[in-house]
Amino acid sequence: MPEPAVYLETFGCQMNELDSELVTSQLRALGYRFTPEAEQASIVLYNTCSVREHAEQKVWSRLGEMALRKARQPELVVGVLGCMAEREGDALLKRMPVVDVLVGPGELDKLPGLLDNALRTRLSLLSDETVQRLAATPETHKPDVNLLRSAGQVALAGNTSRRSATLAAAQDTLEMLDLARAVEPDHHSGSAYVRITRGCNKFCTYCVVPFTRGAEVHRPPQHIVDECKRLADAGVVEITLLGQTVNHYRFEHGAAVTVGGVVQPQKGRVYKHTRGEYADPYAGENVTTFADLLAMIHEQVPAIRRLRFVTSFPRSFGDDVLTVIRQSPRICRYLHVPAQSGSDRMLGLMNRGYTVSEYLEFIDRARSFLHQPEIGRPLTLAGDIIVGFPTETEEDFAATADLLRKARYKNCFIFKYSPRPGTIAIDRFTDDVPDEVKRRRNNQLLALQNEISASVSAEFVGQTLDVFVQGVSKRAAKRKVAQATAARPAGAVALTLGGKSLDGSEPASACSVHGSHVHDEQPVAAATADAGPIQLSARTDGDIIVFFDCPPGRSPDDLVGEIIPVKIDRHEPLALHGRPVL
Ligand code: SAH
Ligand code: SF4
Ligand code: F3S
Repeated sequence: MPEPAVYLETFGCQMNELDSELVTSQLRALGYRFTPEAEQASIVLYNTCSVREHAEQKVWSRLGEMALRKARQPELVVGVLGCMAEREGDALLKRMPVVDVLVGPGELDKLPGLLDNALRTRLSLLSDETVQRLAATPETHKPDVNLLRSAGQVALAGNTSRRSATLAAAQDTLEMLDLARAVEPDHHSGSAYVRITRGCNKFCTYCVVPFTRGAEVHRPPQHIVDECKRLADAGVVEITLLGQTVNHYRFEHGAAVTVGGVVQPQKGRVYKHTRGEYADPYAGENVTTFADLLAMIHEQVPAIRRLRFVTSFPRSFGDDVLTVIRQSPRICRYLHVPAQSGSDRMLGLMNRGYTVSEYLEFIDRARSFLHQPEIGRPLTLAGDIIVGFPTETEEDFAATADLLRKARYKNCFIFKYSPRPGTIAIDRFTDDVPDEVKRRRNNQLLALQNEISASVSAEFVGQTLDVFVQGVSKRAAKRKVAQATAARPAGAVALTLGGKSLDGSEPASACSVHGSHVHDEQPVAAATADAGPIQLSARTDGDIIVFFDCPPGRSPDDLVGEIIPVKIDRHEPLALHGRPVL
């Protein structure tokens, strides 16, 4: 029987990737070992996403496989973490009794206690070796029985309540999870996520996130700056700040609550909409705004050579933020600012709170502040679009295509509307756009965006760009695996470099902790004559993927995590190719 090892697979957004990283470091600190092979694990965890039905279907099918496996391996522990655990709750346990542990995103700090409990209830099924290991668990990590609810293994809602900031006197234990983040020089790739805001108060009618992630909460600025400093001290050079609407970050120091000596995160208030005014209405001595936060990190943590943030909300994005970006050489000229639709009628039904002309005005304003190709600092934009939202006509759709042409995103994620239980749209509107129409609109926009992306990337050919080297490209990693499997016994395969295997289809997620990424790393050897050069994958300041061959005589290990100049000689819609200028 294999000794206990954890397999963790992550679905969904960067927020989930960060959660998985925090969970991983928390469990590692308690002595758990991770494996990239689900088959070799005795604890299988899925960190799930509910944003579209498709995301949930993948997890249901994984759980179906686990049910079969548990029939032959009864000591297996299966856990569902994240947004799907929160949205489905106990219903998930009823449909899939194979699940032992269920933890929503607001209660991830409870996972060790729940896992420990799940393992103990299986003591009679476990090997002597495992029993001994569990017996050695320190008293401080013994499960807290008060945490265990009806099914014994459920901890869902946590800090998702929508109380006012002044009432938030209870300690935010989730904040402790972020604060306890173990920053190990060995377990990062030079790039990291840092959360600034949790939850969301926007209630776009299609969206499940305000229900799964709960009320918007802003982390104390000092916690964020300190975390960036600790990451920088461990060698991280690129940080992406995370929040659903980062530009609405605001921390009022006068209203700060301290519990046990720790300043608590603060509930977001309704963000005053500033139509036509572009200064942050909350700026002032006693308030840290998003612009202030960016300036603080840039100034106080100069070792961070690239600072990015996602996601920006198109409403109330102040000139103060744009000014800080323009003045700060280490803040990337990149904005991910989803429009969702190019039709005012759709935007109204979606409850986005802006019009198409306001959106385009923002894009123009951002470009006039930040697009400076003449000094090698162009602005790149990325977007999200939903097609087939209820009642969307061909005219609405044509308006969205028009918006794509005007916005000129470097890339845009295009989604077919997926009705989500619990959202406002599913109650209020009939999902009346047939699936084949959604699919056609989706394909048409993808083709259009492909042309736009190609013309955006063509502009970089001939330029020398500073790129952040993330790892071996997926193509190179696959080839390496084929060679390794031929040369070594099964199960001893070096899959990735620095835990990374990336290709053009993945969003910027150098900190990805997908199950297959969490394992003991083995470095990829230097380029060898017989195998040919190893292709590396990197990103520009504007988050465009760049592929290049590792130069002869250089080891990929030396280059990963570095920022190096690459001369671009060829382009694809979603990637550039070039040669390092070393
Ligand atoms: N906070 C971000 C988006 C978070 S969800 C923002 O407001 O921009 C990521 C993306 O998933 C959204 O931008 C949207 O395009 C898409 N999405 C969310 N709910 C969806 C649904 N029900 N159907 C299809 N796409 C959806
Ligand atoms: Fe969802 Fe809207 Fe919040 Fe984004 S802003 S997470 S789309 S509710
Ligand atoms: Fe999915 Fe939850 Fe992120 S629903 S997109 S994992 S916030």
